[in-house]
Amino acid sequence: MKILAIETSCDETAIAVLEVTETNDIKILANVISSQIALHAQYGGVVPNLASREHVKNIKHVFESALKEAKLKIEDIDLIAVTHGPGLGPSLLVGLTFAKTLAWQYEKPIIGVNHMDGHVHSNWLELERLMPDFPLLNLVVSGGHTEIVLIRSHGNYEILGETLDDAVGEAFDKVARLLSLGYPGGPAISKLAESGDANRFPLPSPMAKSKDYNFSYSGLKTAVLYLLRNLGERGNDEQVKADIAASFQKSAVNVLIDKTIRAAKEHQVNGILLSGGVSANKLLREKLHIAATELGLPFFCPKMIYTTDNAAMIGAAGYFKWIAQTKPNASWKDVRMDANLRLS
Ligand code: KG4
Ligand code: ZN
Repeated sequence: MKILAIETSCDETAIAVLEVTETNDIKILANVISSQIALHAQYGGVVPNLASREHVKNIKHVFESALKEAKLKIEDIDLIAVTHGPGLGPSLLVGLTFAKTLAWQYEKPIIGVNHMDGHVHSNWLELERLMPDFPLLNLVVSGGHTEIVLIRSHGNYEILGETLDDAVGEAFDKVARLLSLGYPGGPAISKLAESGDANRFPLPSPMAKSKDYNFSYSGLKTAVLYLLRNLGERGNDEQVKADIAASFQKSAVNVLIDKTIRAAKEHQVNGILLSGGVSANKLLREKLHIAATELGLPFFCPKMIYTTDNAAMIGAAGYFKWIAQTKPNASWKDVRMDANLRLS
């Protein structure tokens, strides 16, 4: 089955083409991502209406490039998978309208995919080892979400815990702004943290002691703000900035590891998965890998290219959703945007 997948929920216009065999082997024939980072960086974050306008400008070209790379025509496609939420409304609408128009014009079945289901399925792309049997535990960390997800089967999820305020990626972005590091903050902070002393500035790990699996990141961000105020001019020193970045990263990551490992033990899962944009973070990848191994559990995280937003993950999630449906609902009329869509 050949799938055309479309993702425009935030600031990447992404279209992929996947070929999936009956034994669920996923081959990626094309994975085109047009990033708007340079545009939004001038404003220190994503500007929704600008993002939407860029998607409109780029989507046709991205679509043509994806088909060209896959050496296919639209007529060869068996299913269109498109992100219908959660995300920025004006951005989602562009991909959704494009996908629905294709489905209508070429009479193709279409399926709406939850963006977070996509992040979950990024771990099924280019698998190098067998994925263990369910249940599995997935820490999904992005710019908009921080969730510990129990995966009972494809599409059957329970959110065990989530952030009560800022997402962890958002905290990286906001702290980077405080340190004048530009957008997106995650890569900038982790790079700077490499030359920093993570023990120099003790920062809180909010909710680390709470018995649930929820998170809170706004207090950590505020702690960095107050620290910088107290430091005054010294806060502009490059070494001081690196030490703050490392201290922040340590606090942000430690609570993620502790809660994920506790949830894995409690729910007796067969493997631990990490995904979402923040899964590109080296410290988080390494620490969670070590902690999972100590627990005797296999650990999976996506290849770097599939950590941040892409359409290949939407295609994989769309495929598993499609085959699980007893009566596939395929009409373009039934796929609707839901900017606040949840996983469970
Ligand atoms: O999944 P994603 O591309 O978009 C959303 O669905 O939100 O995630 C983007 C987030 C941004 O907040 C960005 O700062 C963060 O992922 N990120 C990182 C790293 N690379 C990207 N955070 C920490 N360390 C990184 N290396
Ligand atoms: Zn995302």
